[in-house]
Amino acid sequence: MIDLKEGVVEYLEIEGQKELKGAVRISGAKNAALPDMAAAILTDETVILENIPYLLDVSTMKNLLEHIGFRIEEKENSVLSFRLERVASLEAPYELVSKMRASILVLGPLLTRFGYAKVALPGGCSIGTRPVDLHLKALKKMGAKIKVEHGYIYAEAPRGLKGSYIHFSKKSVTGTENIMMAAVLAEGETIIDNAAREPEVVDLANMLKKMGADIKGEGTDTIVIKGVKRLKGTDHRIIPDRIEAGTFAVISALFDGNIIIEEYPYEYLGYVHALLEKMGVNVVKISQNQVVIKRSGRLKPVDIQTKEYPYFPTDLQAQFMTFLSVIEGSSKITENIFENRFMHVPELRRLGADITVSGRDAFIKGVKSLSGAQVKATDLRASAAMVIAGLIARGKTRIYDIYHLDRGYENLDSKLRLLGASVKRGFEEINS
Ligand code: EPZ
Repeated sequence: MIDLKEGVVEYLEIEGQKELKGAVRISGAKNAALPDMAAAILTDETVILENIPYLLDVSTMKNLLEHIGFRIEEKENSVLSFRLERVASLEAPYELVSKMRASILVLGPLLTRFGYAKVALPGGCSIGTRPVDLHLKALKKMGAKIKVEHGYIYAEAPRGLKGSYIHFSKKSVTGTENIMMAAVLAEGETIIDNAAREPEVVDLANMLKKMGADIKGEGTDTIVIKGVKRLKGTDHRIIPDRIEAGTFAVISALFDGNIIIEEYPYEYLGYVHALLEKMGVNVVKISQNQVVIKRSGRLKPVDIQTKEYPYFPTDLQAQFMTFLSVIEGSSKITENIFENRFMHVPELRRLGADITVSGRDAFIKGVKSLSGAQVKATDLRASAAMVIAGLIARGKTRIYDIYHLDRGYENLDSKLRLLGASVKRGFEEINS
């Protein structure tokens, strides 16, 4: 990613309806890499993370850890080593947190290890207000003194955190991760009730256990952590990105499956596969971690409810909306997790989709095909939905605000070019 000079915007231009075939490899999961990087704060030894995806969000988290005092080295492609030799700061400044909400993940580790943290309150983002009240409530329960003012969270626990019973009124992925990291060095036992069950939470727990943490129940609704005195370094490989995998499953289904998807995390997408089957699409394993996607007949419309893992992930909602927009018949998508995650609808309508929104429901009437147009990426996953739309639309599609895509997908445009897609990046002077 390069910094654009004033008045220049970057776009992705796609010439639709090209034949796609070949192989694509799924990168490491963004939403595992971010908590796993934050977990390095919990030890003074070296942590090695493998299969790190090259993403804007990962570089933001790297900058934040370097600001805290980490020395971070690239050992080889996608392998980084982290060592907190000298603590330079216990603060996560606004200019970094405002770029990436997941910066909140340094709060738990800094507080439990050093007894103090000052973290800018993450702003909302386009998909919703994204509060962190559940994180703060839980840390207070563990004995932290928390003050929020002037846009910053001031957290103190000079005598360390106390293990406690924590009930999350709502399942929160980063909330569960923050508290799990706070609990591993707290005194005594912490029970996290109504914990998030995402594979990325389990990946973090696996990494923490390799560092010497005592954790049980990860991946279920109840996680039990017994605090230990200190944690060792470790070498951990990050799991593949199930959302990127789901995105390529949709692309491959639309081009009727001449694509082999490698490093495909089959076991994390059970519910998505069941839904695809109802749509007339089968995900066929051809080896331990390779799949091809095959249509089993005419594509059929379906209704989708986004829910917490293991159900249908909100992060695949926009991509499936693009898919359903060209399947004959009526479909409905209900977004139950975020309050404003339909910004891609007006953009899809510009491409000729027939979609209406009422509250949390989007009603989709399949059209024969989409027609290329200029559109905007509105959030990280919606940007992938625009790319999919561009791939199947007649003619040219230009997607602006493409930085959203670079936040969460590693080299998506080059992966698509390798499959035969006509995708190129361009720059446009915005007339002043
Ligand atoms: C994680 O966000 C992911 N990000 C999101 O992925 C993902 O969409 C989301 O989980 C849901 O699966 C990372 O893991 C870095 P939540 P997170 O806390 O943890 C409410 C992407 O595209 N809530 O599980 O911030 C919240 O408003 C991103 O990669 C509170 O009310 O989500 C939401 O409605 C987008 N108070 C619901 O809970 C809180 O303190 C679930 O949020 C925390 C959350």
